[in-house]
Amino acid sequence: MTWHADILTLFPAMFPGPLGESLAGKALGAGIWSLKATDIREFGQGAHRAVDDTPFGGGAGMVMRADVLDAAIGSVADGQRPLVVLTPRGVPLTQKRVQKLAAGPGVILLCGRFEGIDQRVIEARNAEEISIGDYVLSGGEIAALALLDAAIRLLPGVMGTAASADEESFSTSLLEYPHYTRPATWQDRAVPETLTSGNHKAIADWRRQAAADITKIRRPDLYAQYIASGAIAP
Ligand code: ADE
Repeated sequence: MTWHADILTLFPAMFPGPLGESLAGKALGAGIWSLKATDIREFGQGAHRAVDDTPFGGGAGMVMRADVLDAAIGSVADGQRPLVVLTPRGVPLTQKRVQKLAAGPGVILLCGRFEGIDQRVIEARNAEEISIGDYVLSGGEIAALALLDAAIRLLPGVMGTAASADEESFSTSLLEYPHYTRPATWQDRAVPETLTSGNHKAIADWRRQAAADITKIRRPDLYAQYIASGAIAP
Protein backbone atom coordinates (compact mmCIF):
# COMPACT_ATOMS: atom_id res chain seq x y z
CA MET A 1 0.00 0.00 0.00
CA THR A 2 1.16 3.48 -0.83
CA TRP A 3 2.26 5.63 2.12
CA HIS A 4 0.23 8.83 1.70
CA ALA A 5 1.00 12.35 2.90
CA ASP A 6 -1.58 15.12 2.82
CA ILE A 7 -0.17 18.62 3.32
CA LEU A 8 -2.41 21.50 4.34
CA THR A 9 -0.63 24.74 3.45
CA LEU A 10 -1.06 28.25 2.08
CA PHE A 11 1.82 27.49 -0.30
CA PRO A 12 0.98 24.22 -2.09
CA ALA A 13 3.55 24.99 -4.82
CA MET A 14 6.28 24.27 -2.25
CA PHE A 15 5.43 20.52 -2.59
CA PRO A 16 6.85 18.08 -3.50
CA GLY A 17 9.71 20.57 -4.07
CA PRO A 18 13.00 18.87 -3.15
CA LEU A 19 11.13 15.61 -2.46
CA GLY A 20 10.60 15.30 -6.22
CA GLU A 21 14.36 14.70 -6.59
CA SER A 22 16.82 11.97 -5.63
CA LEU A 23 15.72 8.96 -3.55
CA ALA A 24 12.38 10.42 -2.45
CA GLY A 25 11.60 11.55 -6.02
CA LYS A 26 12.31 8.08 -7.43
CA ALA A 27 10.14 6.50 -4.75
CA LEU A 28 7.37 9.02 -5.52
CA GLY A 29 7.57 8.07 -9.22
CA ALA A 30 7.52 4.38 -8.29
CA GLY A 31 4.35 4.80 -6.20
CA ILE A 32 6.00 3.84 -2.89
CA TRP A 33 4.59 7.05 -1.46
CA SER A 34 2.23 9.76 -2.67
CA LEU A 35 1.56 13.35 -1.74
CA LYS A 36 -1.27 15.82 -2.08
CA ALA A 37 -0.85 19.46 -1.13
CA THR A 38 -4.15 21.19 -0.34
CA ASP A 39 -4.43 24.99 -0.35
CA ILE A 40 -5.94 26.12 2.96
CA ARG A 41 -7.19 29.22 1.13
CA GLU A 42 -9.84 27.05 -0.56
CA PHE A 43 -11.53 26.88 2.84
CA GLY A 44 -11.19 30.61 3.60
CA GLN A 45 -14.14 32.71 4.74
CA GLY A 46 -15.97 35.39 2.78
CA ALA A 47 -15.25 37.15 -0.48
CA HIS A 48 -11.58 37.46 0.44
CA ARG A 49 -11.26 33.85 1.59
CA ALA A 50 -9.79 34.97 4.90
CA VAL A 51 -7.84 32.29 6.74
CA ASP A 52 -6.64 34.34 9.69
CA ASP A 53 -7.73 37.03 12.12
CA THR A 54 -6.34 39.17 14.94
CA PRO A 55 -5.60 37.44 18.26
CA PHE A 56 -8.05 37.65 21.16
CA GLY A 57 -6.19 39.40 23.97
CA GLY A 58 -4.30 41.56 21.52
CA GLY A 59 -0.70 41.43 20.43
CA ALA A 60 1.22 41.31 17.19
CA GLY A 61 0.44 39.14 14.18
CA MET A 62 -2.45 37.07 13.00
CA VAL A 63 -3.87 33.72 14.08
CA MET A 64 -5.11 31.03 11.70
CA ARG A 65 -8.84 30.45 12.20
CA ALA A 66 -10.11 27.23 13.77
CA ASP A 67 -13.15 26.97 11.48
CA VAL A 68 -11.06 27.32 8.32
CA LEU A 69 -8.45 24.81 9.45
CA ASP A 70 -11.09 22.35 10.64
CA ALA A 71 -12.71 22.36 7.21
CA ALA A 72 -9.33 21.84 5.53
CA ILE A 73 -8.52 18.95 7.88
CA GLY A 74 -11.98 17.45 7.33
CA SER A 75 -11.36 17.36 3.59
CA VAL A 76 -8.46 14.91 3.99
CA ALA A 77 -8.91 13.14 7.36
CA ASP A 78 -9.49 9.38 7.15
CA GLY A 79 -9.39 8.36 10.80
CA GLN A 80 -6.21 6.40 10.12
CA ARG A 81 -3.33 8.78 9.65
CA PRO A 82 -2.09 11.01 12.48
CA LEU A 83 -2.49 14.78 12.17
CA VAL A 84 0.77 16.63 12.78
CA VAL A 85 1.07 20.40 13.15
CA LEU A 86 4.55 21.75 12.45
CA THR A 87 5.35 24.48 14.94
CA PRO A 88 8.38 25.66 16.92
CA ARG A 89 6.36 25.08 20.12
CA GLY A 90 5.94 21.39 19.31
CA VAL A 91 7.61 18.34 20.83
CA PRO A 92 11.06 17.85 19.25
CA LEU A 93 11.03 15.36 16.36
CA THR A 94 13.05 12.20 16.98
CA GLN A 95 14.18 9.30 14.82
CA LYS A 96 11.92 7.09 16.92
CA ARG A 97 8.84 9.15 16.02
CA VAL A 98 9.91 9.17 12.37
CA GLN A 99 10.15 5.36 12.41
CA LYS A 100 6.64 5.06 13.84
CA LEU A 101 5.24 7.42 11.20
CA ALA A 102 7.03 5.53 8.43
CA ALA A 103 5.61 2.23 9.72
CA GLY A 104 2.03 3.55 9.54
CA PRO A 105 -0.27 4.41 6.60
CA GLY A 106 1.03 7.98 6.20
CA VAL A 107 0.48 11.38 7.74
CA ILE A 108 -1.51 14.61 7.51
CA LEU A 109 0.70 17.66 7.95
CA LEU A 110 -0.67 21.08 8.81
CA CYS A 111 1.76 23.91 8.09
CA GLY A 112 1.28 27.03 10.18
CA ARG A 113 2.02 30.57 9.07
CA PHE A 114 1.41 33.87 10.83
CA GLU A 115 1.83 33.92 14.61
CA GLY A 116 0.02 30.68 15.22
CA ILE A 117 -3.05 28.50 15.04
CA ASP A 118 -6.22 28.78 17.12
CA GLN A 119 -5.63 26.31 19.96
CA ARG A 120 -9.18 24.93 19.81
CA VAL A 121 -8.71 23.20 16.46
CA ILE A 122 -5.50 21.56 17.70
CA GLU A 123 -7.47 20.12 20.64
CA ALA A 124 -10.64 19.27 18.71
CA ARG A 125 -8.68 17.38 16.04
CA ASN A 126 -6.30 15.80 18.53
CA ALA A 127 -3.32 17.12 16.59
CA GLU A 128 0.25 16.37 17.54
CA GLU A 129 2.47 19.46 17.57
CA ILE A 130 6.01 18.76 16.38
CA SER A 131 9.11 20.97 16.08
CA ILE A 132 12.18 20.15 13.98
CA GLY A 133 14.52 22.17 16.19
CA ASP A 134 15.06 25.15 18.41
CA TYR A 135 15.00 27.83 15.73
CA VAL A 136 12.15 29.63 14.04
CA LEU A 137 11.31 29.06 10.37
CA SER A 138 8.95 31.42 8.55
CA GLY A 139 6.36 28.64 8.34
CA GLY A 140 5.86 24.93 8.77
CA GLU A 141 6.44 24.00 5.12
CA ILE A 142 10.19 23.44 5.32
CA ALA A 143 9.71 21.53 8.58
CA ALA A 144 7.10 19.36 6.82
CA LEU A 145 9.58 18.64 4.01
CA ALA A 146 12.23 17.66 6.56
CA LEU A 147 9.84 15.32 8.41
CA LEU A 148 8.71 13.72 5.15
CA ASP A 149 12.27 13.24 3.92
CA ALA A 150 13.21 11.47 7.16
CA ALA A 151 10.15 9.18 6.93
CA ILE A 152 10.30 8.41 3.22
CA ARG A 153 13.88 7.15 3.28
CA LEU A 154 12.71 4.49 5.77
CA LEU A 155 9.88 3.15 3.60
CA PRO A 156 10.50 -0.38 2.29
CA GLY A 157 12.18 -0.27 -1.11
CA VAL A 158 13.45 3.29 -0.87
CA MET A 159 16.99 2.78 0.42
CA GLY A 160 17.58 -0.93 0.68
CA THR A 161 18.56 -2.24 4.09
CA ALA A 162 21.78 -0.25 4.52
CA ALA A 163 20.46 2.39 6.90
CA SER A 164 17.87 0.55 8.92
CA ALA A 165 20.07 -0.91 11.64
CA ASP A 166 21.72 2.49 12.26
CA GLU A 167 18.47 4.32 12.75
CA GLU A 168 17.21 1.92 15.37
CA SER A 169 19.19 3.33 18.26
CA PHE A 170 19.95 6.90 17.21
CA SER A 171 18.70 8.42 20.43
CA THR A 172 20.91 6.27 22.62
CA SER A 173 23.78 6.00 20.20
CA LEU A 174 26.76 8.00 19.03
CA LEU A 175 27.33 10.44 16.21
CA GLU A 176 29.08 8.97 13.20
CA TYR A 177 32.83 8.48 13.07
CA PRO A 178 34.68 10.40 10.31
CA HIS A 179 34.97 8.90 6.83
CA TYR A 180 37.89 8.82 4.37
CA THR A 181 38.47 7.63 0.83
CA ARG A 182 41.24 7.85 -1.79
CA PRO A 183 43.68 9.47 -2.20
CA ALA A 184 45.38 8.17 0.99
CA THR A 185 47.28 11.46 1.24
CA TRP A 186 45.68 14.74 0.15
CA GLN A 187 47.23 18.18 0.64
CA ASP A 188 49.75 16.65 3.06
CA ARG A 189 46.94 15.14 5.11
CA ALA A 190 47.23 11.38 5.58
CA VAL A 191 44.29 9.12 6.38
CA PRO A 192 44.49 7.79 9.99
CA GLU A 193 46.93 4.88 9.83
CA THR A 194 44.66 2.35 11.51
CA LEU A 195 42.15 2.62 8.67
CA THR A 196 44.72 1.43 6.11
CA SER A 197 46.07 -1.34 8.38
CA GLY A 198 43.64 -4.05 7.29
CA ASN A 199 43.19 -4.95 10.98
CA HIS A 200 39.43 -5.16 11.29
CA LYS A 201 39.34 -5.28 15.08
CA ALA A 202 41.62 -2.22 15.32
CA ILE A 203 39.49 -0.38 12.74
CA ALA A 204 36.27 -1.11 14.65
CA ASP A 205 37.89 0.07 17.90
CA TRP A 206 39.22 3.25 16.24
CA ARG A 207 35.80 4.08 14.83
CA ARG A 208 34.02 3.49 18.12
CA GLN A 209 36.52 5.72 19.94
CA ALA A 210 36.30 8.46 17.28
CA ALA A 211 32.50 8.36 17.47
CA ALA A 212 32.59 8.59 21.27
CA ASP A 213 35.06 11.51 21.18
CA ILE A 214 33.01 13.61 18.75
CA THR A 215 29.75 12.82 20.54
CA LYS A 216 31.22 13.88 23.89
CA ILE A 217 32.16 17.27 22.41
CA ARG A 218 29.13 17.98 20.21
CA ARG A 219 26.30 16.20 21.99
CA PRO A 220 26.96 15.76 25.71
CA ASP A 221 23.28 14.79 26.06
CA LEU A 222 23.67 11.79 23.71
CA TYR A 223 27.03 10.92 25.25
CA ALA A 224 25.48 10.76 28.72
CA GLN A 225 22.82 8.33 27.41
CA TYR A 226 25.53 6.25 25.78
CA ILE A 227 27.46 6.01 29.05
CA ALA A 228 24.28 5.29 31.01
CA SER A 229 23.45 2.46 28.61
CA GLY A 230 26.58 0.73 29.90
CA ALA A 231 28.26 0.46 26.51
CA ILE A 232 31.69 1.54 27.83
CA ALA A 233 33.34 3.07 30.86
CA PRO A 234 33.75 6.88 30.50
N1 ADE B 1 7.58 26.36 12.04
C1 ADE B 1 8.41 27.38 12.31
N2 ADE B 1 9.52 26.98 12.93
C2 ADE B 1 9.41 25.63 13.07
C3 ADE B 1 10.22 24.63 13.64
N3 ADE B 1 11.40 24.91 14.20
N4 ADE B 1 9.78 23.36 13.62
C4 ADE B 1 8.58 23.06 13.07
N5 ADE B 1 7.78 23.96 12.52
C5 ADE B 1 8.17 25.24 12.51
